Amino acid sequence: MENIFPSPHPLVAHKLTRLRDRATDHRTFRELVRELAILLTYEATADLPLRVKTVETPLAPHVGQEMTDRIGLVPILRAGLGMVEGVWELLPAAQVWHIGLYRDEQTLKPVEYYNKLPVEPTVSLCLILDPMLATGGSASATVDILKRWGVRRIKFIGLIAAPQGIARLHSDHPEVPIHIAAIDETLNDRGYILPGLGDAGDRQFGTG
Ligand code: PRP
Ligand code: URA
Repeated sequence: MENIFPSPHPLVAHKLTRLRDRATDHRTFRELVRELAILLTYEATADLPLRVKTVETPLAPHVGQEMTDRIGLVPILRAGLGMVEGVWELLPAAQVWHIGLYRDEQTLKPVEYYNKLPVEPTVSLCLILDPMLATGGSASATVDILKRWGVRRIKFIGLIAAPQGIARLHSDHPEVPIHIAAIDETLNDRGYILPGLGDAGDRQFGTG
């Protein structure tokens, strides 16, 4: 399958294992989510376009480069929130546009509860942030929202995906690259990723 990018980086594998561990406390869990978001964003932004920018060093002029994109970070509430701070350290000029979705526990379908996007798009590239790609319903619905907003270039950055979620997002939106720390085995009958890490929102916010 094209456009699927599991991270090959040893630091990502190491931190993800600590994140999965049920013995990891909430505070450490949040730190790891933040650090993993930075590492994955570094990989996901490797192809961003640049234009020439000339600066004066203290000694001489230098013909350098700068990014051309206006970037929007789109965390899916709640669990995507924990990824924002890390990504923002790399991309301090990025705008943050929150999308609120929760999964109906019976149908597993996403229900939208927060969306304050203005009428016209204000960014040229959106990075969707959500640790878990389970059935893929939430990520796919978020891409739909962003496409309706008028954004053409969209990437998904997550931590753990089920094969079912990758298949769904890729089939609905094949042009959206999926950057992920790991692809797990399957989903359980409640739509949780196995082995996964449990409930990413609860483990970040101490509500489990
Ligand atoms: C989780 C997760 C994703 C979604 C993934 O959110 O953060 O948004 O489930 O599942 P899907 O791929 O099957 O759609 P949840 O609905 O638990 O809401 P929360 O983050 O507010 O806890
Ligand atoms: N949401 C989570 O937080 N964890 C899963 O495994 C699936 C959806």
